[in-house]
Parts: sequence; structure tokens; C-alpha cells
Amino acid sequence: MKQLKRPDTIVLASRNSNKIEELHAILREIGIKIKSSLDFPQLNEVEETADTLEGNAYLKALYTFESTGLPSLADDTGLEVEALNGRPGVKSARYSGEKATYKSNMYKLLEEMELHENRRAQFRTSLVYISEEGSLVFHGVSKGVILREPKGDKGFGYDPVFMPDGMDKTFAELSAEEKNKISHRARAVQEFVRFIKSIKK
Ligand code: IMP
Repeated sequence: MKQLKRPDTIVLASRNSNKIEELHAILREIGIKIKSSLDFPQLNEVEETADTLEGNAYLKALYTFESTGLPSLADDTGLEVEALNGRPGVKSARYSGEKATYKSNMYKLLEEMELHENRRAQFRTSLVYISEEGSLVFHGVSKGVILREPKGDKGFGYDPVFMPDGMDKTFAELSAEEKNKISHRARAVQEFVRFIKSIKK
């Protein structure tokens, strides 16, 4: 990796408006212009064919960087459940099959977990930044438990069944500001922000 330059603009390699909003809210403070894949209609969907979160984030960031010529940031997140030996993990988006929805995935998880007393789980995010100077990886983890039924209607994905440690609310019962202080993605992005702030102008 060459000496990293402070970017003027970063492209978030995502079309997921929930994610873009979450990332945008945190990145706003560093005064860098933020775009997303939604600003580049010519971009195709990147198939997540790697078998690790980091590998998939790398594929998305590289494609976006090569297509736009702009520094790009991509994340990949998985829910790792102890009683399921780390599943659904890298397969969290397609857990209940090719036509999976947030709801079908969540109910499949509740079903699989029905007989398990150990409810421990964690969300893990890998964030990959690619610019002309090279690539960097950042990580964020949020630990908690899987409830027996959904609670709350905010957020997305598995949020209604995930209660982070130290809270008596699920991610889906927290406001965006509250989730952004403690979420896996927020922690990874905060690590990235610290790094950007450390670059001398
Ligand atoms: P992605 O590939 O990073 O978009 O994440 C894979 C899957 O993990 C998504 O389809 C969601 O089901 C789930 N997921 C990712 N981030 C979150 C989150 O912050 N809360 C709940 N579920 C999430």
C-alpha cells in the first residue's frame, strides 16, 4: 500500500438504502463527499461468490472502484449464531433460499433456533476500502442474543430478533442514532473514520 491520500469523494458500493443511510450518517462528520452505487446506474449487481465476508466486501469495492475510478468502500455483514456453529454467516442474505426476503430469513432462523437454549450470536462486518493507493480492511462486531420472537419495526434484516448486549431493546426497537452508536457496521466505519482522520493533509 502506497502512502494513502485523503479522498475528496468516496463511493459506497451498495444499493441498499438502509445501509447507505447508516453509513452516510457516520461518514458525514469527516467532510468527504459521499456517493453510492445508486448514483451510477451503469453499475451491475456484484455476485457475492467469495466464502468470507472480507472476500465479498473486496469483490464489491474492487468492482465499484474499477467502474467509477473513485475510491470505493464496501461492506459485507453476516449474523453468526453460536448454536448453529456460526451460521448463517456469509450466507445471511440467502439463508432461506434464492428468493429469500428479510422476513423469510428471520423466520427460518427462529425455527432453527427453537430447541436451542444457547441464544448467543454476533453480527460481524468487514469493510474494504479501495483507492489508487491500494486496499485496506476494517472490522466491526456487535454481540448479543437471538430472541424467541420479533420485536420492533425499525432497521432491517435480522434486527427484530437481535438484542445487543447491555440493552433491553432489539436493534429494530432502537432509533437509527442509537443503532449507529453500537452496531457492527458503525464500529467498522468508525475504525475507517479514525483512519481517514489520521491521514495528514
Ligand atoms: P450484506 O450482504 O452485508 O447486505 O448482509 C447480508 C445480510 O445480513 C442482509 O441481507 C441482512 O439480512 C443481514 N444484515 C446485514 N446487516 C444487518 C443489520 O444491521 N441488521 C440486521 N441484519 C443485517
